[in-house]
Amino acid sequence: MSARPRILLTRRWTAEVEQHLARQFDVTLNEADVPLDAAALRRATTEYDALCPTVTDRIDRAVLDVPGRRLQLIGNFGVGFNHIDVEAARELGVRVSNTPDVLTEATADLAVLLMLMVARRAGEGERELRASRWTGWRPTHMMGQDLEGKRLGLIGFGRIAQATARKARAAFGMRIAYNSRRRAAAAVEAQYHAEFIDSVDELVATCDVISLHCPGGAETHHLINAERLRRMPRTAMLINTARGTVVDETALAEALAQRRIAGAGLDVYEAEPKVHPDLLALDNVVLLPHLGSGTQETRTAMGMRVAENLEAFFGGRPLRDPVV
Ligand code: 8YV
Repeated sequence: MSARPRILLTRRWTAEVEQHLARQFDVTLNEADVPLDAAALRRATTEYDALCPTVTDRIDRAVLDVPGRRLQLIGNFGVGFNHIDVEAARELGVRVSNTPDVLTEATADLAVLLMLMVARRAGEGERELRASRWTGWRPTHMMGQDLEGKRLGLIGFGRIAQATARKARAAFGMRIAYNSRRRAAAAVEAQYHAEFIDSVDELVATCDVISLHCPGGAETHHLINAERLRRMPRTAMLINTARGTVVDETALAEALAQRRIAGAGLDVYEAEPKVHPDLLALDNVVLLPHLGSGTQETRTAMGMRVAENLEAFFGGRPLRDPVV
């Protein structure tokens, strides 16, 4: 029997998944949970059959195109794969898989959480109380906005956007509008009572809340820029659970500081884990540390989904979630 495939997990995964993988593969764990640098990733390409990275690992051509490459599969832990050069992988014959579906509900929940936190000024309120600055109840204290009946504009209309639409409609009766590269089927639009808006400019100008659900990468880089922020109503809110690069953070900080929009809720950043210093200084932005899929259940399901792809690949079957 041939030796068990060698697998590298670049970060700590839940114990359940680490144990599950160790039963079938020759697994190397990252016990210290410290991100690998480019040299270590390049070395891994020559030493492992499969590499299982996360959003914190930049898998570019230099990492993949090394002499004596052993790597056959990149089993990405996460649905987004903009940190992987998929073109280089394709050219070099390295397969890539991701983990769709299993993190849809958790990430949509986080988008709704951010909407509520921004609308009701939850972060600001908690900071006031913890700093002993709260002077007591009064009718005009820290008034936020209702979400009830407001218009929610989704940019991108994949699984997470649709789950966000379903939750926002069910919880707050929000009216749904969306823009995406491809218009959804009529039946899908009907399911969410979603109105397709052909232009991002029009969408941002006509919605109370804009929530981003498009992929990262060059195509969506700074899709939300100074000009589009100017088009948003002064009462509007921006929510980003997608990728930090979709928003020009400098322009957003300026718009928030000048109160040209009411607030923003961010879970992702242009240069994670760095956060733009101007954003850190503002009260009308809620800042979370990339928690979108961060539940025990979801992180285990993500790991198990990577395992399914590894098992299929090394068992000679088609990948469950092929990216390349
Ligand atoms: C993950 C995510 O936690 O899946 C994604 O694309 O953004 C997050 O849910 C992270 O990317 C893990 O690599």
